[in-house]
Amino acid sequence: MATALITGASNGIGLELAKVHASKGGDLVLVARNIAKLNELKAELEKQYQVKVYTIGKDLSAPNAALEVYEETKKQHIQIDYLINNAGFGDFGMFVDLDWSKQLQMINLNITTLTHFTHLYLQDMVKRKSGKIMNVASTAAFQSGPTMAVYYATKAYVLSFSEAIDNEVSDKGITVTALCPGATESGFQAAASMEESALVKGKKLPTSQAVAIYGYDAMLKGKTVAIHGFMNAVMANSVRFTPRALVVKITRKLQDKAH
Ligand SMILES: NC(=O)c1ccc[n+]([C@@H]2O[C@H](COP(=O)([O-])OP(=O)(O)OC[C@H]3O[C@@H](n4cnc5c(N)ncnc54)[C@H](OP(=O)(O)O)[C@@H]3O)[C@@H](O)[C@H]2O)c1
Repeated sequence: MATALITGASNGIGLELAKVHASKGGDLVLVARNIAKLNELKAELEKQYQVKVYTIGKDLSAPNAALEVYEETKKQHIQIDYLINNAGFGDFGMFVDLDWSKQLQMINLNITTLTHFTHLYLQDMVKRKSGKIMNVASTAAFQSGPTMAVYYATKAYVLSFSEAIDNEVSDKGITVTALCPGATESGFQAAASMEESALVKGKKLPTSQAVAIYGYDAMLKGKTVAIHGFMNAVMANSVRFTPRALVVKITRKLQDKAH
């Protein structure tokens, strides 16, 4: 059974992806900052599913974080068959008012580290002529997003990058999947300070578990773009037939603070 490396496995969608993979009998490398939570999950999964779990506590927004994790897995002689770039966060508010260092960390995590991980592990996968990569994008990837401008732009990058790399490696036994969840119940809303946004306030959101089960299955099938939820798929596709200026206005309305 394949070994999966999952970033952002201490909470939300990443934690649930780890559970799904372990339930199939797969070993894991789990990465996030909160090493205590990772080790708690390691103990639970090793006991319940008799799998091997290796944990790495790392701030993935720091320069060279991906290389350090890659070198650690090499040192441990762990072959990564599935790379799941899930760690990410957003920030809610008018761009001009937001803290710059948080935007930079977001770009580093959501874009730079994800791209570097892909570059590192893809080289090994190409040599083996097998492997799967799943990059967690978002329905935010399909249009620009006033009040979360940088976040939406990072996810547009993830979608664009994933589709292109999938095309480049499709004849090498490797698949790349961009998982695009809509608003999902997790620690994301608190981390992005967006609890007051009309997008989530008072709304019953899908669980991280439902998104993880869907995403994992899409990765195994080698689906290139996997949008969770029927209405999310309809909306993501409808923007292609709607004037861009109108799409931005509608997104602003959906995103703004609930009144
Ligand atoms: N929830 C949604 O509504 C939603 C919708 C679409 C897409 N997504 C995407 O889904 C992915 C997972 O988010 P989630 O909803 O599961 O949110 P979450 O519950 O907040 O989990 C985020 C995970 O990322 C890790 N992380 C954050 N900053 C990190 C850093 N600097 N270094 C290493 N790890 C870091 C966190 O672990 P530590 O804090 O321990 O580091 C945590 O495990 C993200 O890419 C997000 O953009 C979420």
